[in-house]
Amino acid sequence: MSLDIESIRRDFPILSRTVSGGKSLVYLDNAATTQKPQSVIDAMTRYYEQSNANVHRAVHTLAAEATEQYEAARDTLAEWFGTTRDNLIFTSGTTEAINLVAWGWARANLGAGDVVLITEMEHHADIVPWQLLAEEKQIEIRVVPVITESGTLDMDVFHASVDDVSLVCVVHTSNVLGTRNPIEEIITASKKSGAKVMIDCAQAAPHHRIDFKGMDADFVTISGHKMCGPTGIGCLLATSDCINQMQPFMSGGDMIEQVTMEKSTFQSGPAKFEAGTPKIAEAIGFAEAARWLSQHDMGELHAHCNALAKHTSESIRVLPGITVYGEPGSGDGSGVVSFLHDSIHAEDLARFMDAGGFAMRTGHHCAQPLLDAYGVTSTNRVSFYIYNTMGEANAFIAHLEHIIERFG
Ligand SMILES: Cc1ncc(COP(=O)(O)O)c(C=O)c1O
Repeated sequence: MSLDIESIRRDFPILSRTVSGGKSLVYLDNAATTQKPQSVIDAMTRYYEQSNANVHRAVHTLAAEATEQYEAARDTLAEWFGTTRDNLIFTSGTTEAINLVAWGWARANLGAGDVVLITEMEHHADIVPWQLLAEEKQIEIRVVPVITESGTLDMDVFHASVDDVSLVCVVHTSNVLGTRNPIEEIITASKKSGAKVMIDCAQAAPHHRIDFKGMDADFVTISGHKMCGPTGIGCLLATSDCINQMQPFMSGGDMIEQVTMEKSTFQSGPAKFEAGTPKIAEAIGFAEAARWLSQHDMGELHAHCNALAKHTSESIRVLPGITVYGEPGSGDGSGVVSFLHDSIHAEDLARFMDAGGFAMRTGHHCAQPLLDAYGVTSTNRVSFYIYNTMGEANAFIAHLEHIIERFG
């Protein structure tokens, strides 16, 4: 099987629109969020047109249909991520999933003297919750640095730091550099030292079939919108042992068993952590995104994105004034190229590119400590996905060259 990119593109209605006065849209901001195929849009519309009701409560026909579709989405996604429905908690995305680990598991199980090991490559979503928890519980946060030349984690420091740690929280794939970390090595060493381990798979799930059981992590966090699903939905995958050790972080309707004016008891399993009316249409859309992705070979998808990143990085690295960060497209990266021009401000460059139809990201990418390590406050970032073509990469390179000639 090989990817038929032209046919894939036809599944994404937004890709045929124009921007900036009639320019074809070249969408290169996929690490921020991916576009949605028609089947995902249709699944959500169908739910609203035909089955919209609240779940888990009423006995009428629509409520039964909504409940059935919401829980079927959990089954589809659990299967896609190599786990069971009892180990999949719906969240609004990776941010909420990490907060659930921090406030649901760590707050109940860690205390003064415990160490949480994170890395300099983390997204703010995997830094800030730990800082807030550290203030409350006097836990220590230990940080593994990045080797800036290669854009990889300093694994010597990791191994020297992991011995007395209670929880290891590491990003699978960097949203800034595209680096894929040695997750198997990290999980094995963490387990050996007796630590629990959480892997932030926000950028990995769009590129790899996550196999939660096979990975042997305690927690995995995922965002649906980065893998062709809707915004506002993601999940936390957690082992049954960890789920049993977790306390609710949000509370209210749906997650309870019995409430009196004196006290409440809670449901068990994922339901205990899904308070209030859930994200019903979003869960249905997320499951449809997994079904859409399942038509394609994830290995080929990943190789395709990596090839575009490698070609782009090699082509722009030699342009005057351009610095490319890390080694995009090398090893097992994820189709991301972060770069800067030495005299055209990142935001100006992004506006010039937008005027040519190219959507690329600018800023600190919610990873300020990583950018600090490189001594910069922002980068330009292009990130490829399954529907991007070599023609688009070449058009991007040519337009960048043109901008540099004119303004550099
Ligand atoms: C590596 C990584 N972690 C966490 C997040 C946060 O994800 P979300 O905003 O979907 O909660 C992102 C989003 O860009 C990310 O790239």
